[in-house]
Amino acid sequence: MRTGRFSSLPISPVSFTDTVRRIEREKGIKVVRFDLAEPLFPPLKEAIEETVKAVESGYVHYPPPRGIPELVEEILSYFRRTRGLEYDADEVIVTPGAKFSVYSAFASLLSPGDEVLLITPYWVSFKAIPEMFGARCFEVRMKKPFGLDEEAMKDAVKGKKVLVLNSPNNPTGWVASEEELKLVRDLALDEDLIVLSDEVDWAYVYEGEHRSIATLPDMKDRTLLIDSFSKVFGMTGWRVGFSAGPKWLIDDMLMVQQHSVSGPTTFSQKACAEILKGAERYAERMVGLCRENRDYLVERLSNYLDCPKPPGAFYLFPDASRLGLGGDELSKSLLEYGVAVSPGRLFGEGFENNFRICYAMPKDEVVKGVKRIEEFFRTL
Ligand SMILES: Cc1ncc(COP(=O)(O)O)c(C=O)c1O
Repeated sequence: MRTGRFSSLPISPVSFTDTVRRIEREKGIKVVRFDLAEPLFPPLKEAIEETVKAVESGYVHYPPPRGIPELVEEILSYFRRTRGLEYDADEVIVTPGAKFSVYSAFASLLSPGDEVLLITPYWVSFKAIPEMFGARCFEVRMKKPFGLDEEAMKDAVKGKKVLVLNSPNNPTGWVASEEELKLVRDLALDEDLIVLSDEVDWAYVYEGEHRSIATLPDMKDRTLLIDSFSKVFGMTGWRVGFSAGPKWLIDDMLMVQQHSVSGPTTFSQKACAEILKGAERYAERMVGLCRENRDYLVERLSNYLDCPKPPGAFYLFPDASRLGLGGDELSKSLLEYGVAVSPGRLFGEGFENNFRICYAMPKDEVVKGVKRIEEFFRTL
């Protein structure tokens, strides 16, 4: 039988939704969705109002390939305010979600046989996308609970073309320390690497502050900084992400974009431009809600598991071994109790006993989920 070229690629965890829907139908319950990497808070009312306004005021035609000028201007100001980084308009691109920034960057950078270094555990698409272009991904494992393994990184980086850095991190909640950023910088300079710095969760740092690797000396010219409206503003369905980096790379990403998706919806972009004007205020509110959820979950789950408090993002990635369970077994069993979590296996080798909980949702939903988890844990 014929098989597709991409049949061996890892599937996106989003496809798990079909299984959840089946369980909901069979059991007549509403599953608590700790498995989705998505803020489940009600959307910003300003985002809806600005979208309607944008449609009514004529933002309904093709967007320019780079993004509408109003949004590009706001992005320059936002990177200045939130990262202390100065970019020119021709160093920026607006894409349909951060995911298409990652896609078009890899499409631009990779030829068959090129090598990419991923820090495991990682967001699944970081592996699937390079493989679509015939590149090879190598994994270097984090130390547990979570931090970079300096010696392993030094060995693994040899001969690589691109290194993916994702801090704050999905799925662990790890945030790179100053020393870790310096390590990545030294490796990038020594090996002449391009760093894909996925900072979609940049605002979710509960202790200290986020720092972009692009702010380190000599890094701006070899870093693609990737950001999005999905996580910090809870606007996943608007499908707007954006990136800043060296002009030669952005130019290639523009080629990919104009010959494929054209760009994110024009009226979404206009609404996003308005939202960026109040970025810090919106972000602060989301982060406050998530901090409360993190503290609550860690306190409750620590009665049963080793559950260190992650410094960032909106995920827990605990190890289920103390319960005598692997991540797969645990996620299957929890589904029977009306809770969906993602098994660690989905995020690379070596974390099969872990599972990911996304806690960006209203507190009452978190409380409901924890009650169900505890109900299951008490049966063990
Ligand atoms: C680390 C990371 N990067 C990128 C994305 C995709 O974001 P977007 O919705 O902007 O495409 C996600 C979503 O789960 C993510 O976790």
